[in-house]
Amino acid sequence: MYNMVKMLHSYWAYLVLIILVIAVVNSIVRKAGNKEYEAKDFRIALFTLIVSHIQLLLGLILYFVSPRFSLFSESGMGEIMKNSVDRLYLIEHPLVNIIAIALITIGYSKHKKKLLSEAKFKTLAVFYTIALVLVLSRIPWSTWLA
Ligand code: HEM
Repeated sequence: MYNMVKMLHSYWAYLVLIILVIAVVNSIVRKAGNKEYEAKDFRIALFTLIVSHIQLLLGLILYFVSPRFSLFSESGMGEIMKNSVDRLYLIEHPLVNIIAIALITIGYSKHKKKLLSEAKFKTLAVFYTIALVLVLSRIPWSTWLA
């Protein structure tokens, strides 16, 4: 179970990063070019929301089935916070990514309520860019790409 979810979460992360980068670039370029908001723009924003929510679900399952999770009862919070690797996997990575996915969700629903194309692109650009920076800041790069 653990290995399967870990593999899924690990590969799904490529999809999350690719679609999130596409969504950010698309919203910035189309806002800068004063373009009209089209069905394609909506599809990119929606697809980013769905893909990131699936990653959230996989991450939550992984969190509780991971052998690392038992560190909470074995060593306690104090020891986890002292070890930078345990802190990254058990605290920083999950927390920061949950915030990032919450921002994607808020940005998505806010942009839908805006009437003007410019306002829609601006909302997406702001929320999705912050989310992308947060996600990138807490990926365990050394183990993921090893
Ligand atoms: C956009 C959101 C996320 C992305 C892009 C992402 C990406 C990744 C990547 C690339 C890894 C390393 C996998 C490997 O070493 O093969 C990882 C590990 C992990 N992620 Fe996420 N993640 C996200 C959200 C979450 C969330 C929300 C949680 C928990 C609530 C979570 C829990 C974990 C755990 C527990 C591991 C460590 C697995 C282990 O080595 O035992 N992730 N994540």
